[in-house]
Amino acid sequence: MNRSCLAVILAAGDSTRMKSSMSKVLHPIAGQPMIAHVMAAVAEAGMTDAALVVGRDAEKVAKAGSVEGVAVSAYLQTERLGTGHAVLAAREAIAKGFDDILVAYGDVPLITPQPFTEAREKLAEGADVVVIGFNTDKPTGYGRLIVENGELVAIREEKDATDEERKITWCNSGLMAINGAKALDLLGKIGNKNAKGEYYLTDLVEIARAAGGKVVAVNAPEEELAGCNTRAELAVLERFWQERRRHELMLSGVTMIAPETVFLAFDTQIGQDAVIEPNVVFGPGVSIEAGAVIHAFSHIEGARVSGGATVGPFARLRPGADLATGSKVGNFCEVKNGRIGEGAKVNHLTYVGDATVGANANLGAGTITCNYDGVNKHLTEIGANTFIGSNSSLVAPVSIGDGAYVASGSVITENVPADALAFGRARQEMKPGRAPALRERALAFKAAKKAAQDAEKP
Ligand code: UD1
Ligand code: MG
Repeated sequence: MNRSCLAVILAAGDSTRMKSSMSKVLHPIAGQPMIAHVMAAVAEAGMTDAALVVGRDAEKVAKAGSVEGVAVSAYLQTERLGTGHAVLAAREAIAKGFDDILVAYGDVPLITPQPFTEAREKLAEGADVVVIGFNTDKPTGYGRLIVENGELVAIREEKDATDEERKITWCNSGLMAINGAKALDLLGKIGNKNAKGEYYLTDLVEIARAAGGKVVAVNAPEEELAGCNTRAELAVLERFWQERRRHELMLSGVTMIAPETVFLAFDTQIGQDAVIEPNVVFGPGVSIEAGAVIHAFSHIEGARVSGGATVGPFARLRPGADLATGSKVGNFCEVKNGRIGEGAKVNHLTYVGDATVGANANLGAGTITCNYDGVNKHLTEIGANTFIGSNSSLVAPVSIGDGAYVASGSVITENVPADALAFGRARQEMKPGRAPALRERALAFKAAKKAAQDAEKP
């Protein structure tokens, strides 16, 4: 759509019931601040500029709400005099002149682009105000959409409604679209003569109609319009978000054995035919490619897992973990900033940090890259087709050449050339026949100790 569009995001609520040191719109859902979810929705609906109306934490909210390629500015609403007053806090932004104005709430984060896109289409067709409504069997507290002769004629707030009007189940979500050229004129006409003594944005319906303008409504699903006032509601929104995203992923071809135990981040990407076993947690920045298998109880963040790779059970992939095709990272292994080459195996109890592991390398149980000297991080390079014996420590910076062997239990502090066999441990010494003597001595010690204890007894 070739029309300019300003999104005004209302986020000046005082967040009292969140009992938090920060604005509620900064609280995360799926690892991303609520405000960023809202911004993503309006951005996808084609918003070109954004004005955030905030009451506190202005800088942090503006930062959390930033969108690539979009000018985002924050406006302080010092007194909360109602939603109409709040939109006018962004007067300066609206005055720049836009075709479309969208109004969204910072604490309604499950919203999708769809209703905004539909609302913009209505503006393009000539509407001055487009109300985003919803149907509900629990209308209490919401503004009701009043219809006469098939036309939306007003929004009545709960407190101002008659008993008859309160029975209406078609409600106002609060989200709206306004003709940008007329917005300041219409908003300027909002007064505060109502039960709450507030400037109601909802008055725009009657104001626009009185001026001969066209007002219509579009609908959105009730679940997308849930707001957040308490931590308990935050958890409900998180659950809904997770359910929605898991469902999408399953429909796109991802297998989840117990989806209700899998936790996704806002940007988790999972390809077709990938299998996600129970109790897997994804942090931000993860891409699981087609056909990868994530076994149970793995924790994955900032990582890429290529097709045919397997992870876990009980594995931890931290930022910068990059697993090539067919590689394996098994139980109780941790990978951080580490590239695991094609077909390489890191199967048990291993730490790979700041390292590259070549194709088809095999790291034995308990291999540790010692990447930190207490001050700096150093790199370990492990070549292709290498074999690292169990319980080896590779003290970085160090490199193991292609095809080299490292003997079990080694502490490797020097580079190992390609195809070399490196021992970094004490040589074994043998004392033939000495075991029985050792055993006798231990038994004698035990007997003497018992005799001493018996002697002390009364
Ligand atoms: C509003 C709508 C109501 C709708 C409901 C949906 C009006 C007059 N009423 O009522 O029709 O059914 O939302 O939830 O618009 N805000 C500010 N500054 C203000 C006032 C509000 O930033 O001065 C923000 C709040 O932080 C919140 C949003 O605007 O994000 C809505 O405010 P709220 O007080 O919850 O409005 P409601 O009375 O619920
Ligand atoms: Mg409300």
